[in-house]
Amino acid sequence: MADVQEELKQLREHLPAWVEASRLHAAKGKVAGYIPELAGTPANALGITVMDASGECVTVGDCDLNFTMQSISKVFTLLLALMDRGEEAVFAKVGMEPSGDDFNSILKLELVEPGIPFNPLINAGAIAVTSLIAGSGPAEKTKRITAFFSRLAGGRPLVCNEAVYRSEAATAYRNRSIAYFLKENNVLEAHDDVEEVLDVYFRHCAIELTCAQLARMALVLAHAGRDPLTGEALIPSRYVQIAKTFMVTCGMYNASGEFAIRAGLPAKSGVSGGILALVPNRYGIGVIGPALNRKGNSTAGVHLLETLSQHFGWSLF
Ligand code: DON
Repeated sequence: MADVQEELKQLREHLPAWVEASRLHAAKGKVAGYIPELAGTPANALGITVMDASGECVTVGDCDLNFTMQSISKVFTLLLALMDRGEEAVFAKVGMEPSGDDFNSILKLELVEPGIPFNPLINAGAIAVTSLIAGSGPAEKTKRITAFFSRLAGGRPLVCNEAVYRSEAATAYRNRSIAYFLKENNVLEAHDDVEEVLDVYFRHCAIELTCAQLARMALVLAHAGRDPLTGEALIPSRYVQIAKTFMVTCGMYNASGEFAIRAGLPAKSGVSGGILALVPNRYGIGVIGPALNRKGNSTAGVHLLETLSQHFGWSLF
């Protein structure tokens, strides 16, 4: 690998052309329609921020776009649940394996004993993890999650996009089915009110940010839980190791194997078209490209990350 200064120089030079080449791939995808409020997002938008350990950024494309974290938030609720409850309690509720199914699948909850979700990054697993966040009620849990995310994103308070939250909450028949199934299987416990757990889940999915804020969150993971800009240890390194492993094995759902082969970086996608990715000990990366492939990943965003990783030889493998 070239050194960081050389890579940043090349990024400044080539990234605009790479973004335009990747943008063409948006035509192969579709903006998520099952959350009605997301449907209006511009399909061929594409933006990226790459941030190094000194906070220097290369930002190209539609980076002014605010977008909701959606499934990217699941990485960070997992981290907060691990910090709140420890590994044993978290892995009593969710497994450590890729599911091979769609992110919103309910199938294996019934088919595979003991009916716990396969991993914390599919919807079922993330809903179970959300139930473990400490707090006296949904409002306090949401407040703690938002404060944790804001701290990782550089300090400016992040906010929930109320329209996206309401839109999902009003139409989330599949997630409701999953959550009630989890209650039936005792993954959600007697004291867990299903609708309250879902409310916290929908709210953290609807937290809104920019590519630069997403890159800053990724940067903390790239540096084992320490914010390289402030020197603050924000997350125990063991938990970051767990999160990064899930990002490699399950972060792009049932396209994680293909992404590992083509890009080889820990990454997490969301149905808003956001992708968080990182190059260990080097960069945090935030991408937005709303048109999605069938597996729920940004078509243009995936192409752009593959291009960068292959050019710079960033693959971990
Ligand atoms: O629960 C959902 O369906 C959404 N709030 C999040 C799903 C998601 O982002 C899947 N990602 N590709």
